[in-house]
Amino acid sequence: MSSIKHVAIIMDGNGRWAEGRSRQRVWGHVRGSSIVSDIVEEADDRGIEALTLYAFSTENWSRPLQEINTLFSLLKKFLLKEKKRIIDNNIRFKVMGKLDGLPEETKKIIKDLENETKDLNGLKLTFAFGYGGRSEIIDTVNRLREEVKDRDVTEEDFSKYLYQPELGDVDLLIRTGGDQRISNFLLWQVAYAELYFTETPWPDFSRKEFGEIIEKVTTRERRFGYVKECEGFKISSLWAKKNKDSSHSKVNQ
Ligand code: IPE
Ligand code: IPE
Ligand code: MG
Repeated sequence: MSSIKHVAIIMDGNGRWAEGRSRQRVWGHVRGSSIVSDIVEEADDRGIEALTLYAFSTENWSRPLQEINTLFSLLKKFLLKEKKRIIDNNIRFKVMGKLDGLPEETKKIIKDLENETKDLNGLKLTFAFGYGGRSEIIDTVNRLREEVKDRDVTEEDFSKYLYQPELGDVDLLIRTGGDQRISNFLLWQVAYAELYFTETPWPDFSRKEFGEIIEKVTTRERRFGYVKECEGFKISSLWAKKNKDSSHSKVNQ
C-alpha cells in the first residue's frame, strides 16, 4: 500500500501561464480552475485519503481587486458545477481558512456543501482558501491556551487543535509553476512531507503528471530521521539508552 495518504498541492503559475500567452492573469486562473476536477479524480482513483489544494492565501489579499474577485467567482462556479460529482463520488468537502471577505452567497454554498458531505467517507477534499500557515499556528496556540491550562502542551495536543486535525501530516507536497518555496502553506503539517517541485504551470498540469509524481515519490525512502538496523548493531537499543540518558540529564538540570 502506498505511504502517500495526504497530498497537498500549491497550484501556482496561473498568472505567468497567461502572461506568456499575452493574456491577462485572470485568464490563467480560469484555465487553472478547469483542471482541478481532473486532479481530484486522479487522487480519488488512486485511493489517496486526503487532497488539500492551496487556492487563495492570506497574502493573496494584497492582489488587485479584479483578480481577487475572479478567484472568488471561480470558486463559486467550481462548487456549483462539481457539487453533484463530489457527492456522487462520496467525497467529503471542506474549506480551510478565513472566509470573512467572501460574498455571503459563496459562503452559503460552501457551508451547504460541507454539511451535505460531512458524513461521506471517501476522499477528504479540502480547499485552503483565505488560508495562511502562520495564522493557523497562532489560532491553534490561542485555542490551546483556553483548553490546556494545567500542564505543558505536547505535539499531540497541538496537532489536535489545528483547523482540520483529521487530515494528519502531509505526506507529499507538490508545487507547480517552477518556484521552490512553501509560501505559508500547512507549515506544521509539512514537517516531514516529501517535496516535489515541477516547472509545469498549474494550467498545464495533468492527471498524467500527477500520477507520475505519486509513483516516483512512492519509491523514495522516507526515513523520518532514523536509519535501518545494520547487522550486529542494534540502533533501537542505542536509541533507547540515549533517550534514557538524556531524560536523566533533563531531570537533573
Ligand atoms: C496561483 O497562480 C494561484 C493563486 C495564487 C491564487 P499565481 O496567480 O500565483 O500565478 P503566478 O505565480 O503569478 O504565475
Ligand atoms: C501560493 O502562490 C498561494 C497559492 C497558490 C494559492 P503565490 O503565487 O501566492 O506565492 P508566492 O507569492 O510566489 O510566494
Ligand atoms: Mg504565484
